[in-house]
Amino acid sequence: MNMEINKIAVIGAGNMGHQIAMCAALSGFSVRCTDNNADILGKAVQFADNYWTERVNKGKLTEEAAKAARENLVFAPSVQSAAEDADLVIEAIIEKLVIKRTLFAELDKICPAHTILATNSSYIASSKITDATSRPDKVCNMHFFNPALVMKLVEVVQGSHVSDETVEAVMTVATKMNKTPVLLHKEIYGFLVNRFLQATRQEALKLLDMGVASHEDIDLAVKNGLGYPMGPFELMDLTGIDLAYHTYMEKYKDSGDPADRPSPTVVEKFTKGEWGKKVGKGFYDYS
Ligand SMILES: NC(=O)c1ccc[n+]([C@@H]2O[C@H](COP(=O)([O-])OP(=O)(O)OC[C@H]3O[C@@H](n4cnc5c(N)ncnc54)[C@H](O)[C@@H]3O)[C@@H](O)[C@H]2O)c1
Repeated sequence: MNMEINKIAVIGAGNMGHQIAMCAALSGFSVRCTDNNADILGKAVQFADNYWTERVNKGKLTEEAAKAARENLVFAPSVQSAAEDADLVIEAIIEKLVIKRTLFAELDKICPAHTILATNSSYIASSKITDATSRPDKVCNMHFFNPALVMKLVEVVQGSHVSDETVEAVMTVATKMNKTPVLLHKEIYGFLVNRFLQATRQEALKLLDMGVASHEDIDLAVKNGLGYPMGPFELMDLTGIDLAYHTYMEKYKDSGDPADRPSPTVVEKFTKGEWGKKVGKGFYDYS
């Protein structure tokens, strides 16, 4: 039986969440997006407001489509008000397992029995979260890419606990959002794309820490030699050095392998609060 999704809740309105919510609203879903940080939520409201107007001014969106998207997207004040009648919840909060588990337990209580609970996590497989809920067959990974309004790929992961019905519904939502979904038949750390990304990033950080070349030149080399649209340091600035730090730390906590610890450069940037584009400074200066 194919489950129809009409209402979507997005929890977390940071780097990823607000744009996932906007994609869904543009595609005709009724969306509620929330964040527990009022400043971030305010910024998301402002961003969406400007975005609809800009797209119309640039001729990329009709007035009607912008009006519909505006009406479809509500920024809600709490997880309860965002998720209480959702068919699908997409979680896009901080990349920390314990915090995600707490949220999923809360969502399990708030949401109707049919609601699918998906995580946008970059690395955490849904099997690590599912036992915080009473609906393992409806808990899966739905992984968007940054910036979510632009990037087409969505990785959907069917761990052994996830039902075919859930996967089918999530793949259909991604397609309706004008994305290109790919299905992973088993869970694996980093899914598909982040395994490639991690390999490039690891090497770039190692070369930088060894003093072989500057981050600018490593970015230039990767772009011009490998044909990548962005260098690894530019990309880390975009996706967030805090996210890179938490990702390494989560893996290290899990494996205990010192090789999984964040590199000295990532630790230094994280500690200084130089988290990338969102704060105005990372490897590059955006002020
Ligand atoms: N940044 C990327 O490039 C990228 C790409 C793909 C997937 N992801 C994944 O998406 C998730 C979010 O990443 P991000 O970069 O958007 O992070 P972010 O820090 O920009 O945003 C996370 C937001 O979640 C909010 N939040 C934290 N706990 C909450 C809670 N309990 N309830 C409501 N809101 C809460 C925070 O206030 C913050 O605004 C992570 O799991 C990350 O791995 C990130």
